[in-house]
Amino acid sequence: MSRSMRIKGNATINGIVPVPGDKSISHRVAMLASIAQGLSLITNFATSVDCHTTLDCIERLGIRVERGPQDILIYGEGLRGYHPIETPIKLSAGNSGSTIRMLSGILAGQHFTSIIDGDASLRRRPMRRIIEPLTSMGVQVRARDGNYAPLEIKGGGLRAISYASQVASAQVKTCVLFAGLFAEGRTVFTEPAPSRNHTELMLEEFGAQFEIDETYGDLMIEGGNELTPVQYRVPGDISSAAFFIAAAALLPDSQLELRDVNLNPSRTAFLDVLSKLGANIQISNLRTAHRELVANIHVTSSQLKSQSEGTVLSGVIIANIIDEIPILAIVATQVEGRIEVRGARELRIKESDRVQTVVAGIRALGGEIEEFEDGFAIRGPQRLTGGRIETEGDHRIAMAFSIAALIADGTTEIVDADCAGVSFPEFYELLKSLTREGHIE
Ligand code: S3P
Repeated sequence: MSRSMRIKGNATINGIVPVPGDKSISHRVAMLASIAQGLSLITNFATSVDCHTTLDCIERLGIRVERGPQDILIYGEGLRGYHPIETPIKLSAGNSGSTIRMLSGILAGQHFTSIIDGDASLRRRPMRRIIEPLTSMGVQVRARDGNYAPLEIKGGGLRAISYASQVASAQVKTCVLFAGLFAEGRTVFTEPAPSRNHTELMLEEFGAQFEIDETYGDLMIEGGNELTPVQYRVPGDISSAAFFIAAAALLPDSQLELRDVNLNPSRTAFLDVLSKLGANIQISNLRTAHRELVANIHVTSSQLKSQSEGTVLSGVIIANIIDEIPILAIVATQVEGRIEVRGARELRIKESDRVQTVVAGIRALGGEIEEFEDGFAIRGPQRLTGGRIETEGDHRIAMAFSIAALIADGTTEIVDADCAGVSFPEFYELLKSLTREGHIE
């Protein structure tokens, strides 16, 4: 059932935010635990619907999973320990690009046929980017029009390859490195710009024979070695935290503390951009856990201003801020000066066409935004009014415009607001508890 949310503007936000477990890390730890030799214990596993979709797939592949409210046990049986409940096994990745693209790398190494599909949004997203490398590793992959789900994967007998990806996509990188775990010999992967590196750090946690050539940026995985299970605590998700960080910076008389948030440098450019614009953001208790950086973040109301010539976000930074661009657009409406996002064509093939949904949403709230094929530009500060937001079922659009609604004059309706659960099921309850009564209904 899809529920609309009505949000009143002119809010303030205060308190402590318990940030849910990171979605990217949760997918990876679950997938690797499912092919490790023995029992892995994962605490603070993401509550995200997408991550539970990954667990559902693992269960259908015959691996025992026990889910507590936050702790997950996964009884891995080794690289070839899957025994699917039917053959060919039919899996659903729901709305999750990470599930379909990353799990396909593991399915490619199995000696059975898998069919993996998804919802209408996922069926529109390109899969050629993983089909190409998997095919050169010797896997047979059939896809609708050669590019779209459902995918039929006939795995086994993989050969190692050297692959230079055309896109800076951590999902593609993960797919190839996961397939490399099963290939004979050394698989080498390079990417055109650095994408998030959780897979690299996680492969080391599981004892994989993985190396990085620092000079050329080559990632190398040696196939055929079993993985060791882990006891792993998932840190908070910076991409979920981003909505609250933006809210505290934008709203008057506001202050938030966000605890135990992952600050992997391949994910934190959003914080750098905000700090450069003058946001009051402080980091404390910075530490390393499972090779990942973790810290607490404090944010207070801020006066935001772009450099006099404006701010252009393009090039290598885009992969780092890709999931935060919708909320950055909301921030941009309140910054003095111009902010332009370019070279972000990938936004058009996310859970929705996020250039289009961002542009339509800003306009629906009476704001002004210039649209480009590969991004947009916004000049602020702008006064936003209430309005009706069509989320197109995209979780990050629902959450970004909920924050916009708190800034706006009047009331905003967020259509199909429940889609926030894809990454952050507690989002509205939390927002309610941190704002004064009556803002969220
Ligand atoms: C993710 C990578 C990114 C990101 C997605 C999660 C990951 O996608 O947008 O939300 O966990 O690897 P791409 O790999 O398609 O850029």
